[in-house]
Amino acid sequence: MAVSRGVVSDAYAQLAAEGWLLIAPRSGPRVASSPREHKGVRPLYVEAAEAVRYDLRPGRPDLSRFPRADWLRSLGAAVRGAGDAELDYPPIAGTERLRAVLAAYRGRVRGTLATGEDVLVCLGAAQAFITIAVALGPAQVAVEDPGHTGIRELLRVRGLEPVPMRVDEEGIVVHELPYSVRAILVTPAHQFPTGVVMSARRRADLLAWAERRDAIVIEDDYDAEYRYDRAPVGALQGLRPDLVFHIGSVSKTLAPALRLGWLIAPPAWHERLLLAREGLDHGLPALEQHALADFIERGAYDRHIRRSARAYRRRRDALLEALARELPDATVSGAAAGLHVAVHVPGADEGALVAACREHGVVLDGAAQHGAHSEGATLLISFAAVPDAAAGHVAALIATARGR
Ligand SMILES: Cc1ncc(COP(=O)(O)O)c(C=O)c1O
Repeated sequence: MAVSRGVVSDAYAQLAAEGWLLIAPRSGPRVASSPREHKGVRPLYVEAAEAVRYDLRPGRPDLSRFPRADWLRSLGAAVRGAGDAELDYPPIAGTERLRAVLAAYRGRVRGTLATGEDVLVCLGAAQAFITIAVALGPAQVAVEDPGHTGIRELLRVRGLEPVPMRVDEEGIVVHELPYSVRAILVTPAHQFPTGVVMSARRRADLLAWAERRDAIVIEDDYDAEYRYDRAPVGALQGLRPDLVFHIGSVSKTLAPALRLGWLIAPPAWHERLLLAREGLDHGLPALEQHALADFIERGAYDRHIRRSARAYRRRRDALLEALARELPDATVSGAAAGLHVAVHVPGADEGALVAACREHGVVLDGAAQHGAHSEGATLLISFAAVPDAAAGHVAALIATARGR
């Protein structure tokens, strides 16, 4: 029977994919002694991922906690409940239902003052920054230093000029702000990456400064859902809804993959922001917006955050205990909050220590990657990503990396 070359090579490829055949460069196909033997020939990226035992870069929740079944229930409800109108282009600001649900939810848990009208649903927090940048036009924006370099870049690419500002133990140093800035971007609930909580006095100073200079304040509320020792400080936006743009997303609570975030904006800016958004896209996926609204409304979001916070608090305690044992001279800074800690290791070279940790399978960031420079090394470690019972192992690997 004659068969075409394509059919034969497809069959070979299928057998190789299933592990029955071994195909290596410069040699003929060989039958595997068992399908498992195929595992010896792996694409590089799998090997690289295996060498990483612990990916502890800050910024991600424990993604294995994603509430798949519960989310599926909301997504199913969204698909079943959507009439033809819901399958058309969605409103550019987001679905009316999700905007109202978010306004109520943020008000309840963060003390924001807003109605659905003030909410713009965004493609993660990232798009909220981009939308503000476009609406603001070329201008100087004060950013915290150290601070999130990725967000600075988003602003820079859209024509803003980030002006790095010092952060002390009370937050951004307001009296050093130059008069030329039109906006001030801050992480008041839990400064990224130092973990400092902005003091009440500094919050008042910042708002007074912004009012005097006719500047806006951009509040990045990225991980404020997690505070382990007391109730989190309320959102700045709740103090001055006319001055403060409040940004958040589900990236730290559910998963970055959902790309769902929000911007609560002063009424005077609504029109400009909508215009900016009209130039960026034609609306966000509506079914996911309905799913999130359902997820929040029926209490699944609260439940998930409550459970996750309990697990993260345990993990934070376990990691700090293990670090105290393995690296007794290291100190931890910042509030008991969020998903990461900043660990200061005296006398160490940060770049070398981060590289040595990586060689030992522990991937983490050095604070210098976010603009922080200090004597010794400051490691940013996501305790949320340290599996239960692995804290001792992680701390021992870091200590070994340091000892080399
Ligand atoms: C401080 C901070 N703000 C904002 C974001 C952006 O989050 P997203 O665009 O995923 O919502 C991140 C993400 O890592 C972050 O660390």
